[in-house]
Order: sequence, then C-alpha cells, then structure tokens
Amino acid sequence: HVVAAVIPAAGRGVRLGPGAPKALRGLGGVPILVHAVRAMLRARAVGLVVVVAPADDVAGVRSLLDSHGLPESKEIRVVAGGETRQESVRLGLAALPAEVDTVLVHDAARPLVPVDTVEAVAAAVRAGAPAVVPALPLADTVKEVTPGPPGSPEPVVGTPERARLRAVQTPQGFRRDVLTEAHEKIAAEGEGATDDAGMVERLGVPVVVVPGHEEAFKVTRPLDLVLAEAVLARRRA
Ligand code: CTP
Ligand code: MG
Repeated sequence: HVVAAVIPAAGRGVRLGPGAPKALRGLGGVPILVHAVRAMLRARAVGLVVVVAPADDVAGVRSLLDSHGLPESKEIRVVAGGETRQESVRLGLAALPAEVDTVLVHDAARPLVPVDTVEAVAAAVRAGAPAVVPALPLADTVKEVTPGPPGSPEPVVGTPERARLRAVQTPQGFRRDVLTEAHEKIAAEGEGATDDAGMVERLGVPVVVVPGHEEAFKVTRPLDLVLAEAVLARRRA
C-alpha cells in the first residue's frame, strides 16, 4: 500500500480571533501546521504529504515548511486550497500521484495527534476497511434543537442517547478510490458535509470508528490554544 496524507490548512481560523491564518499561528514557537505535518511524517505508513495552503500564500507555506527542517526522505507537496474545507480536500486529492491507494485526511488544526492514532487509522484501512474515523465518546449530553436567532431560547427536539454518540477526529483514512468518488459525486450534488467520512456514508460505503485520542483535539477557539500549549509543555517536560 502507498499511503499519502492530505492536510487541509487553507482556513482562516475565524473562531480563533484576529491574526494570521490558523495553521500559521505559533504553538510552542512553531507554526501549528508544522506540528501537524510532523505528526503525519512520524507515521511509518505515510510516504507522502500534501499540504493544502491558503490560495494567496502557497509560496509562503512552501518556504515555511522548507525552513523547519522536516525529514527529506518523504515528499511534501504544497497546493492551493479553496473556499471551503471540502473544496480544499478535493484540491489536495487532485495533487496525489497515481500510485497512492490510501489517503489519510488530517486537519492542520489538530497539531498534537499522537503517532499511534495515525498508525491505527492507516492499519484499519490496510486491514480492509474502506473508510476509518478516529473518535471518542462524548463527555457532554447533546440536545437537538430547532435553531433560532442568536441569543434567543431554542426549543429542544430531543436527546440522543449519549452512549451511542462519538465525537470524530482526524486523520480519517480512506481507500483513495472511495474518497475521490465521494468528493466527485457529493460536490456535483452541491451538498456540503462537515467531514470526509460523512460524504463517504452518503455513497452507502461502510465507515468504521476506531479509538481516537484526547490529544487529537481540534484547535478551534482561544481556549484550545491554551490547552495545546499545556499539552506541549507536558510532553517536553
Ligand atoms: N480548511 C481548509 N480550507 C478551507 C477551510 C478550512 O483547508 N476553506 C481547513 C482548516 O485550515 C483546518 C481544517 O480545515 O485545518 C478544519 O477546519 P476548521 O477547524 O473549521 O478551521 P478554519 O476553517 O480555519 O476555522 P474557522 O471555521 O474558525 O474559520
Ligand atoms: Mg472552518
């Protein structure tokens, strides 16, 4: 099997507040994206990484990666991203060489995913699963509501049984042909999905969950960056 990682990193990071694009902000003195790329390169299974950069800063991201001393034994391609995450992943897939048959899609915004989680996802695809997502049980109970205007009380529709719910992370692993078909068909239907596996589910292809890791959390809001700094400091201690 030839495994590639596609890292969507073209988002602005609006929820993190004003500043540079999220993937380029510092974490322990190193850009978040560099942590994410290293996390994927550390996995033996991964032979190639495609970074999907903000469209107006492909050259900047290229030189950023070149200046951080990443291992030269594995190729790193940098391509321009799109307006949505889904579009960025599609553009990343289009940059894969022909021999790649397995793809791990990993958010740049999950810089601290442990290598064991990456390897476990790749191993599950290698063992025959067409689509694999790492996920964790939820701590909070979840309510479905009828969304109203911001700040107004929202009627509760129901409460799904918490024990049956999982919060999904990345990297999500796929047979390349399955993920490519999902992106072609679902994009043609004009429907969005909030993760790659969700698109594959709509094709009717089975998706399985494997254990995720609490350190694979997504840096989304300012508090997540505080947590990420603390996790990194604990690792370095
Ligand atoms: N992403 C991307 N292209 C986009 C939007 C998002 O490649 N047009 C990437 C982000 O860079 C991130 C990942 O998708 O690594 C997960 O998205 P999210 O956490 O929502 O990041 P942002 O979209 O940057 O953040 P926000 O939604 O707060 O603006
Ligand atoms: Mg976003």
